[in-house]
Amino acid sequence: MSDENQNPDLTDDEKRLFADLMPEDLNEIMDSGFNRRHFLKLMSVGGATVLAANLLGAEQVLARPLAPEEAATTAAIENGVKISFNINGATRSLTVDSRMTLLDTVRERLQLTGSKKGCDHGQCGACTVMINGQRVLSCLTLAATCEGKTVTTIEGLANGNQLHPMQEAFIKHDGFQCGYCTPGQICSAVALLGEAQKGDASYVTSNIKQTGAGLSLSEDEIRERMSGNICRCGAYPNIVAAIMEVQSGKPVEQHFNFAG
Ligand code: FES
Ligand code: FES
Repeated sequence: MSDENQNPDLTDDEKRLFADLMPEDLNEIMDSGFNRRHFLKLMSVGGATVLAANLLGAEQVLARPLAPEEAATTAAIENGVKISFNINGATRSLTVDSRMTLLDTVRERLQLTGSKKGCDHGQCGACTVMINGQRVLSCLTLAATCEGKTVTTIEGLANGNQLHPMQEAFIKHDGFQCGYCTPGQICSAVALLGEAQKGDASYVTSNIKQTGAGLSLSEDEIRERMSGNICRCGAYPNIVAAIMEVQSGKPVEQHFNFAG
């Protein structure tokens, strides 16, 4: 039997190395069941730099969904705040850590994993959901601020098996490739239609005095208004076509632009 299996716990030297790399998180990582076998594997892969990177991953793992027994006792939650909100048509009440984002709450606590965590820094739009009909970045929104509000995620757009028109248009126009950005793109596009209906101006609106309810959006307007949603696959022409089609109610042809 190998030494690592005989001695599952970290030695004092190994703990010291851990403590040097991530002093604040040592106890939490140890409590998570991280043992000597994991440690040796990480070290054999590429040394301390890789170890540090993997520990960051371990930190993410520590933001795991609460096990049922933990969820049952609010004492297990630090800085607990009780919130109650309507999400996708159902009222949900739960206690969350006051620092928990809406994105982590829907994904980890409510198991609504359609909203994606891309950058977790408000830069990619993958986590876009709607609060009271307005699009927001759920990775930058504290769950505690959603008390009494109405939250809609991608899971709440379809009516049973009946897809939302925007979902159907994305499928028709193949507005996705890897699909990772798609839930955020669709939520953003649905909220964008609401903004156009209200006549909200955008950064590229040339004459804001001419805006008004029922605004019809040009391709440039749609591109600008969707600019907070990044698609690494570059499915933008198809996404714009899908949005234009839903907005106008008329079939829109796809334009394929190839690099010259
Ligand atoms: S995950 Fe929220 S903007 Fe990227
Ligand atoms: S479809 Fe892949 S990132 Fe948008």
